[in-house]
Amino acid sequence: MREVPINIPPFKKIISLYRVSSTMDVAYMLGRLGERDIIVEAEEQWAGRGKGENRWFSDDNSLTFSLILDGGFIYKSSLLSILAGVMVRRGIISATGIPIKLKWPNDIIFNGKKLGGILGEDRGKFVIIGIGININQKSFPSWLDMPISLYQIIGKENRKDDILLSILREFSLGLEGFINGDERLINEWKRSCDILGKKIAGYEIPKEEGIVIDLASDGALIVETRDGRKRRIYSTEELYRVERRYRWRENT
Ligand code: BTN
Repeated sequence: MREVPINIPPFKKIISLYRVSSTMDVAYMLGRLGERDIIVEAEEQWAGRGKGENRWFSDDNSLTFSLILDGGFIYKSSLLSILAGVMVRRGIISATGIPIKLKWPNDIIFNGKKLGGILGEDRGKFVIIGIGININQKSFPSWLDMPISLYQIIGKENRKDDILLSILREFSLGLEGFINGDERLINEWKRSCDILGKKIAGYEIPKEEGIVIDLASDGALIVETRDGRKRRIYSTEELYRVERRYRWRENT
């Protein structure tokens, strides 16, 4: 384990670990011990978690970290991974110039492929934001659904630390808006989003097919179904159940 002090307010240090189950687990333990405003980073995770019950693939070519922030100030926890997406996108763009997009609720996308993901966990007194980005992979296991790495996009290796620090700087600059659920960030999310205007369908209930028309200020996705009804889909645990019934069917 290595502790690296940093001065990117509010962040004080990065705890760098070699192999862990998940940085979410370590961050949770540290959060319970009272740690705040720190980053837990790991070279490898052997039980990385994705949204819902998905596992998250990561290897030593991935950037894999979790932030611990004080929970008392967060405006709406349902917005956590959405607003974190805005910061992560800004950080990746300012480090690499690659025009990446976001997809509800927590995907980082390039050309329709998944470059990374974000997991927000509201633990009451503190919140954890887990971020995983594919950095230097030249190939991926076949079970992954359309992954892509920065290496595959720009054809050269990237220093994981450069991307990490760039993302932390964006969190630092945008922290107030992030905490307060600033409307401007929500609008930025909408502009950078790869899902508004697209069609989604519940494959168990095909007649529920609808078009994603907006994002509500609480992070819910607003879908207009064929019969003109508007449905809200939320990005909380409960909504993952909804989401499992839905498969993104992209407009062609
Ligand atoms: C998703 O898209 O499903 C969310 C993926 C979040 C992955 C990150 S990697 C760092 C942190 N540790 C985990 O186990 N998960 C998050």
